[in-house]
Amino acid sequence: MKKIVIAIDGYSACGKSSTAKQVAALLKYKYVDSGAMYRSVTLYFLEHYVDMDNPKSVARALSEIDITFHRHETTGQNETFLNGLNVEKEIREMRISDNVSQVSTIKAVREAMVSLQKKMGKSKGIVMDGRDIGSVVFPTADLKIFMTADFDVRAERRQKELFDKNELVDLDDVKANLKKRDLIDTTRAESPLIKPEDAIVVDTTHMFFKEQVEHIVQLAGSRMLRM
Ligand code: DC
Repeated sequence: MKKIVIAIDGYSACGKSSTAKQVAALLKYKYVDSGAMYRSVTLYFLEHYVDMDNPKSVARALSEIDITFHRHETTGQNETFLNGLNVEKEIREMRISDNVSQVSTIKAVREAMVSLQKKMGKSKGIVMDGRDIGSVVFPTADLKIFMTADFDVRAERRQKELFDKNELVDLDDVKANLKKRDLIDTTRAESPLIKPEDAIVVDTTHMFFKEQVEHIVQLAGSRMLRM
C-alpha cells in the first residue's frame, strides 16, 4: 500500500504526541515530535545563555545545534538527541515548558526547524505532530488531524504526565503554563496554531487513548485506499 504523510496539530497537552507515536508504530511509519525539536532549541538557548533578542546570537546558536531522533533499543521509543546527547527527559521539564513557546516565536528558529522537518518527510511514511505541520510543514499532507480537548482535562493529563516522571507540579501552575502557551501559540506572527481547512477535528475530551489511536488509524487506512 502507498505510504502517506500524516500531520497532527493541536493545543498543548491534548494527547497529540502519545497518539501520533502509537499511530506511527501501528502503521510502521516514522514518528517525528516537532515539539521536541523546539524544546531542544530552548534547552540549548537556556544552557548557553543565548540572547534571544539578538539575531546574530540566535543564528550562531542555531548553527551549533544538531537535533536527531534515535529509537531506544529496548523500549523501541524514539528519543531526542541534541548534539549527540540524549535530552529526552530534560526537554519535558517545566523550565523548558515555561520558555519554549517564546523561543518558537523566533522567525529564524522556525525557518531552521521547518527546513529540517520537510527533509524528514521527503520519503513519506511519516507521522509528525506539532502546531504548524498541516499548515506550513506539510501543506499537502494526505491526512491532517486537528486534536483538541477541554482545557481542564488537558491540564489534568499534563499534571499526571509530569507526576509519572516524578515532577510534582501544582495544578494551578500547569493551568497557568498551558494558558500562556495557548495564547502565544495561537497569536504569534510566525505560523500560529490554526486548524487547516482540510483538517479533521478529533476532540479527545471523552475519548480513551485506544479509541483516538484507532480512529486516526482508520482515517489513515481509508486515505491509503483512495490513493
Ligand atoms: O508539542 P509540545 O507541547 O511539546 O510543543 C512545545 C512548544 O513548541 C509549543 O508550545 C509550541 C512549539 N511548537 C511549535 O511552535 N511548532 C510546532 N510544530 C511544534 C511545537
